[in-house]
Amino acid sequence: MSTAGPDPSDLDRIAVAALARVDSGMLLGLGTGRAAEAFLRRLGERVRGGLQIRGVATSERSAALARRENIPMVPFDEVERLDVAVDGADEVAPDLGLIKGLGGALLRERVVAYEAAEFIILVTPEKLVEKLGSRVPIPVEVVPFASTSAARHLTALGGKPAIRKNADGYPLQTDNHNWILDTAFGPMDAPAAVDARIRKIPGVVDTGLFLDMATLVLVADTGAVRELRKRR
Ligand code: A5P
Repeated sequence: MSTAGPDPSDLDRIAVAALARVDSGMLLGLGTGRAAEAFLRRLGERVRGGLQIRGVATSERSAALARRENIPMVPFDEVERLDVAVDGADEVAPDLGLIKGLGGALLRERVVAYEAAEFIILVTPEKLVEKLGSRVPIPVEVVPFASTSAARHLTALGGKPAIRKNADGYPLQTDNHNWILDTAFGPMDAPAAVDARIRKIPGVVDTGLFLDMATLVLVADTGAVRELRKRR
């Protein structure tokens, strides 16, 4: 599931801006989705030109692209700390709270970003919202066994869950062999409270609410890149 396509030149501009924050010797978290893939392609160019970095992928899809780009990869279990993680997002709030996961990689994206000293998010401007939940549902990753009960409890919390499906009509399976309940809550005044309630539901593995994680958001404004920064 993905929203209507952003302009590739916008994605490329923010990818180049993110690359300016990468130095030789760094260990990088490599995100998933169109913006992250634009970054991977630019990173591949620089690696082939001699930049020495190593990467950890957040999805099988990104790992495959990184391999095609000849980016040296490291297994996540050999990593203790990453310098920078670069990823996209589906919504960005003024406090840099995010909704992520429309690309299905939310769990590994969080695990990898948590280890990074800097978490850089690349977005086009339509993703900036006043309140999280305004444009997209919250992806909720669940173990398949609990999908029906979790959907019932999400509904009781005021959400509208829908199992994410493949084109063949079967539930989409994440890289972790789980399913995703895309759960619309509408614009939220207190996303942290909603997140906490969702996480109490047995069988929920992760949510797409990434609160207090992004340190820098690069926004593709017309012909320019806008920086939104937060210290952590
Ligand atoms: C992947 O699971 C997601 O978190 C993506 O990073 C997010 O959906 C943004 O993707 P795009 O850059 O493709 O819009």
